[in-house]
Amino acid sequence: MNQLTSSATDKITGIINVPGDKSISHRALIMGSMAIGETIVSGLLEGEDVLNTAAAMKALGADIYRDELAKWHVHGVGTGGLSEPAGALDMGNSGTGARLLMGLVSTYPFSTTFVGDASLSSRPMKRVTVPLEKFGAEFHGSEDGTLPITVKGTDAPLPISYDVPVASAQVKSAIMLAALNTPGITTIFEKTPTRDHTERMFHFFGVDTITTPKDGGRVITVSGQPELTARELIVPGDPSSAAFPVVAALITPGSDITINNIGLNPDRTGLFITLKEMGADIEFLNEREECGEPVADLRVRHSSLNAITVPEDRAPSMIDEYPILCIAAAFAEGTTVMRGAEELRVKESDRIDIMVRGLGACGIKVEEFADGMAITGSGEKPEGGALVETRLDHRIAMSFLILGLQSHKPVTVDDGSVIETSFPTFRSLMNGLGANIQPAAGAPA
Ligand code: S3P
Repeated sequence: MNQLTSSATDKITGIINVPGDKSISHRALIMGSMAIGETIVSGLLEGEDVLNTAAAMKALGADIYRDELAKWHVHGVGTGGLSEPAGALDMGNSGTGARLLMGLVSTYPFSTTFVGDASLSSRPMKRVTVPLEKFGAEFHGSEDGTLPITVKGTDAPLPISYDVPVASAQVKSAIMLAALNTPGITTIFEKTPTRDHTERMFHFFGVDTITTPKDGGRVITVSGQPELTARELIVPGDPSSAAFPVVAALITPGSDITINNIGLNPDRTGLFITLKEMGADIEFLNEREECGEPVADLRVRHSSLNAITVPEDRAPSMIDEYPILCIAAAFAEGTTVMRGAEELRVKESDRIDIMVRGLGACGIKVEEFADGMAITGSGEKPEGGALVETRLDHRIAMSFLILGLQSHKPVTVDDGSVIETSFPTFRSLMNGLGANIQPAAGAPA
C-alpha cells in the first residue's frame, strides 16, 4: 500500500494547469478510433483510466501513439471497422471506459470480454446491458451483472428507442456508441440532463445527432452508420480535478491561485455554483470555447464559507464532486445538506458510506442518509489525525488529503496510488502550490 499523509499548510498560491478532462479524453480516443484518417489530441489525460481505453481501442484495431510533444495520434478504422480483440479488455478502475466500450462493441459481430479491478468488478453493469440487449447483443457473465462480462455483439443491430431510468451519462453514451454501427435512427430520452460530452463530440466528428429539450430532460437522436471526419482537438482541463486545488485554496487562509484552461460545460459546473452560493471567491477569467466545449481560467481566493442545502436536481452536474464538497462543508458555518445523490453509492466506492466514516474519524459532525449526507461545520479547523480508508477510490484519497492541509493533526490515506487513475500529477501540483503531502512515515517514497 502506498500511504500518503497531508499536514498543515500555511497558504496555497500559484498558477497551475490540471490534466485533461477524463470524460472528454475517453471520448476523444474512442471517436478518433472510429474516424478515417488521423485525429490528433492535445491535452489528453494520461491517467490509468484513459490509458486503459487507449489500449482497448488498439486491441479493437485502431492505431494510437503518443509523440514526444505529448500529442496523441489516432488512426481510426471507420464506422463498422472494428475487429475482434485477441484477449480480454482490462478497463482497470474505469466505469466510463467499461460502459462506453461495452456499448461500442455491442453492434459488431464478434465477442469481447471486459474485466476490471476489484472496485470496477463490483459496479452495476445491468444499466448498460439491458438497453444494449435491445440492439440484439448478448451478455454472458455473473447473475448479478458485474464484470467480468463477455459481450456477444450482433451482426444485425436494430435501432432502439430507450428512456434511461438512471441519471447517467455513461448509460446514455453506451447507447449512443452502439447506435454508431446501427442503421437507422436511435432515440434516447433522459429525464434528468447529464453531461453532454458525447453529443458534443459526435457533432465535432460529423455524426448527425439532434438534442431536443423535453419535460425538463432531453431527447437525443443519433443517425447510424455515419462517415466520421478525423479532427484535431484540445482537451480542456478537468473541472473535477480542478475541484481539489479549488477547495484547498478556499479553506486555507492567505491562498490565491489561478487554474488555467478549465472546462466549464454547464452539465459539469454544479460544484462551482454551489461553492459560490456558500460564499466562495471564484472568478471565471478569459472565458472562451475550444473544440465545442466552454473553457475559462479560474482564480480562487481563501473565503469564509456558509452552509447551504444543495438543490437535489443539481446532483448530475456535480456527481463526482460530492467528496470534495464534503471537505468544503466541514469548513463552512452551519449544516450543509446534500441529498438526491443516491448514485454516489455505486461510484468507484460507496462514496456516502466511505465519506461518513472518514469524516467521522477526523472529528467532523456528519449525518448519513440513503441518498446523501449532512455535514456540520463550526468554522473551526477539524481534528484530523485519522488513517482513512480509500477502497480504490481516487476522489476519496484526494479529498482527505485536502482535508489534512487544514486539520489540527495530519491526515493519512491508506492508498495514494489510486490517484493515478485520474490525476497523476496531483501531489506534485499541490506541493508546488505550497501543500505538504508526503509518503506516510515508513511508506516508500
Ligand atoms: C462519466 C459519467 C458519470 C461520472 C463519471 C464519468 C462520463 O458517471 O460519475 O466519473 O464520462 O460519462 P455516470 O454516468 O454513472 O453518472
